[in-house]
Amino acid sequence: GTNPTSGVAHRFEFLSAPNLHWPDTIFSFDHGTGILYTCDAFGLHYCSRELFDTDPGAIAPDFRFYYDCLMGPNARSVLQALKRMDGLPEISTVAVGHGPLLRHHLGLWLDDYRTWSSERSTGENYAAVCYLSQYGFCDRLSQAIARGIGKAGAAVQLVDLRATDAQELSALIGEASAVVVPTWPARPDAELQASIGTLLAALKPKQWVGSYDAFGGDDEPIDAVASQLRSLGQKTAFEPLRVHQVPGGNDYQRCEEAGTDLGQLLTKEKTIAAMKSLDADLDKALGRLSGGLYVVTARQETPEGTRSSAMVASWVSQASFEPPGLTVAVAKDRAIEALLQVDDRFVLNILREDNHQELLRHFLKRFPPGADRFAGVSTLEGAATGGPVLGDALAYLGCRVVQRLEGPDHWIIYAEVEQGNVADTQASTAVHHRKVGNHY
Ligand SMILES: Cc1cc2nc3c(=O)[nH]c(=O)nc-3n(C[C@H](O)[C@H](O)[C@H](O)COP(=O)(O)O)c2cc1C
Repeated sequence: GTNPTSGVAHRFEFLSAPNLHWPDTIFSFDHGTGILYTCDAFGLHYCSRELFDTDPGAIAPDFRFYYDCLMGPNARSVLQALKRMDGLPEISTVAVGHGPLLRHHLGLWLDDYRTWSSERSTGENYAAVCYLSQYGFCDRLSQAIARGIGKAGAAVQLVDLRATDAQELSALIGEASAVVVPTWPARPDAELQASIGTLLAALKPKQWVGSYDAFGGDDEPIDAVASQLRSLGQKTAFEPLRVHQVPGGNDYQRCEEAGTDLGQLLTKEKTIAAMKSLDADLDKALGRLSGGLYVVTARQETPEGTRSSAMVASWVSQASFEPPGLTVAVAKDRAIEALLQVDDRFVLNILREDNHQELLRHFLKRFPPGADRFAGVSTLEGAATGGPVLGDALAYLGCRVVQRLEGPDHWIIYAEVEQGNVADTQASTAVHHRKVGNHY
């Protein structure tokens, strides 16, 4: 409509800009004013009193830092968005969600994003997670898989099979180290049919592949999709993620955990290199740090269903007296990390010196995505809120997450202890002794 005071007619055009920095980010261009609203893209972590980018030198370092934190991991998506912006008439101002409005040096900022993203997107390992926008449950399932991949520190590119042109699609799939594909409609329209053809033709033999049910109601069977993905001898990153009903809490958890398994395949070499890089003396000295042996358990009832998880932990320490609090260091790619957000509750099970091997053996097993980690383990139901108390634990502490401090490879979870009890006041806590500090 026309603004009654300014007389400018506003006409908005929307540009899909996935991953910048949310999977569903959309830019809005006002043809009346030439302003492009970009949400997080081209932003800064802070706003000063300067409304516009009058002094580029003053904000350039922060502009770079912000890019590195939020946009760099999605460099390909940045290039995709810039390409879509090229199709617009002249942009007068980029109006960001936070940070100065970019008007006086717009060319400079756009060039920066273009250069940095081109540098970043050459030769980097990434997983292409395909989805069909607004088809079945693709949007949320693909985002859960992408989140899981990101947890392992691997790069992800979400690819909308409907909105990506053939050339772009072919490049995104062909250059990926891993490709994840949803089931598609058994009777796709001609355009989608062509996209699927492009996708299959772009696959390379050395890629990791995975598939998931879109649960669109009229899908190609997932086994047929999975076998087409492997037709050149590709390796399966995770078993087909079958969804037989409207997805519930555990389905999203399963997708996230499958994504993490895939991400770990892509970052394996980096992880091994990091483990080898510690200095030998320092490494042995660090190994003399010791902790107890614990099992962290969590269970949440969500409107969609029950989600639960567990992990063996030794990086646990009391951290406050009043109120009583403790910290647990949780690796960023741990499955249970998703259940340890601020305000979530969990249980710290303290293991016994004279009886902990069996529990360690059980919880250190490699569980498939979404597996029930408590199957076959004795638990005391209802003893604590937040998670199962293990029948063979020496003591338990019921905790609530208060704060998460981000470290390089672990989250330091600070939690208040709300309840607790001891099963046997005579027994002592199992202690973990290590030789070296580069693993648990
Ligand atoms: C003795 C020991 C202590 C561990 N302590 C921790 C810990 O404090 N924090 C952590 O994130 N992982 C720790 N781990 C690794 C976890 O037990 C983890 O569950 C396991 O590697 C499986 O990963 P997942 O739960 O993501 O599938 C420890 C492992 C062992 C063997």
